[in-house]
Amino acid sequence: MSDSNYNKTAERYQKYVMQTYSPKLVLVKGQGVYVWDSEGKQYLDFAAGISVCNLGHCHPAVSEAIKQQVDRLVHVSNLYMNEVQPLLGEKLVKAGFDGVVFFANSGAEANEGLIKLARKWGSEKGKYEVISMIDSFHGRTLATLAATGRSKYRIGFAPDTPGFVQVPFNDIKALEAAITDKTAAVLLEPVQGEGGIMPADPVYLKAVRDLCTEKGIMLMFDEVQCGVGRTGTFYAFQGYGIEPDALSMAKALGNGFPLAAFMAKKEFAQVLTPGTHASTFGGTPLACAAGCAVLDTISKEKVLENCVKQGRYLQEKLLELAKKYKFMKEIRGKGLMIGVVMDCEVAKLMAEMMNNGLITLSCGENVLRLLPPLTVSKDEIDQAITIMDKSFAAVGS
Ligand SMILES: Cc1ncc(COP(=O)(O)O)c(C=O)c1O
Repeated sequence: MSDSNYNKTAERYQKYVMQTYSPKLVLVKGQGVYVWDSEGKQYLDFAAGISVCNLGHCHPAVSEAIKQQVDRLVHVSNLYMNEVQPLLGEKLVKAGFDGVVFFANSGAEANEGLIKLARKWGSEKGKYEVISMIDSFHGRTLATLAATGRSKYRIGFAPDTPGFVQVPFNDIKALEAAITDKTAAVLLEPVQGEGGIMPADPVYLKAVRDLCTEKGIMLMFDEVQCGVGRTGTFYAFQGYGIEPDALSMAKALGNGFPLAAFMAKKEFAQVLTPGTHASTFGGTPLACAAGCAVLDTISKEKVLENCVKQGRYLQEKLLELAKKYKFMKEIRGKGLMIGVVMDCEVAKLMAEMMNNGLITLSCGENVLRLLPPLTVSKDEIDQAITIMDKSFAAVGS
């Protein structure tokens, strides 16, 4: 046992990798909604790399696009144009609103870009403050941590970057009261992810839009987790019938290949002139080839339709299960971004489900988070529900 693949990797991991995570599995292969560990065990992956592999693991169209591009041109820096970056920009704009795109590599980097955009835009008017939401999550860099409403992530990293204020989510009066003549922007996730899968109330979001317009404040959405089809529309804002002035995206944009972006309406984006913002690796031809394949596949394979259909089905099946297990208190979410509020220890349930071959996530306070690939089938959802049933029965209430 001591020289098993798992033990060898775990030993090296302990010795050579900074211990900021506590992973339990060594995963070696993925295909569609399935992954396999170092001992050959198969799992249904209802985490999808935390909403990254939205087209499933190793989708052939994305793999093929990467293979083609890797032998043609990988990187040239942004001192030169490459052919693929503007192609992806066009696709992202046409899928959303009339704006322009800046390419980055991670969600935090994209959000840093949004914050810099807000400050640059506000600078001539003496505005710099960003209002964000309690229970929000925007990343682990110092500015995105300061924007993050989940204060536990900031412990030990004081002093906070100044210029951020947090208000309760879905509370328009609190937002109105927090606005001052220093407010440059409001930043929020249309569906909060890490905070516990909490969708914005449509009436609230419309009121936020109106308030920002009335007060001359930028409205910025963090769609890093809820974007790229996760909630059933390509951008989450499209499920609400309003438009932000700018938004960030990452995670699923490259289906696992690191790729992020922020997009802004031209009237705002014009303040970011040459030299004011940059990223060495942002928008390489290789990353953008993966991104183009993701967007093409989403439309070609009717992925959004499947997300809506299977999201409804998964919620129905969870509601049925909730009749049997009283510790399942609430089921909420949009599309295939689903949270189950539990009145028991979620970690125990997750460990049992993993034992039984189902990978899930948690978030917020005792919320089980389900983020399967958007390509998941009814049959795969049935398999997951069977595992949940068996695991919940074993762990009890
Ligand atoms: C809504 C949201 N914003 C930002 C981030 C940070 O993204 P990254 O880890 O790619 O920096 C995350 C990551 O979970 C997220 O869920």
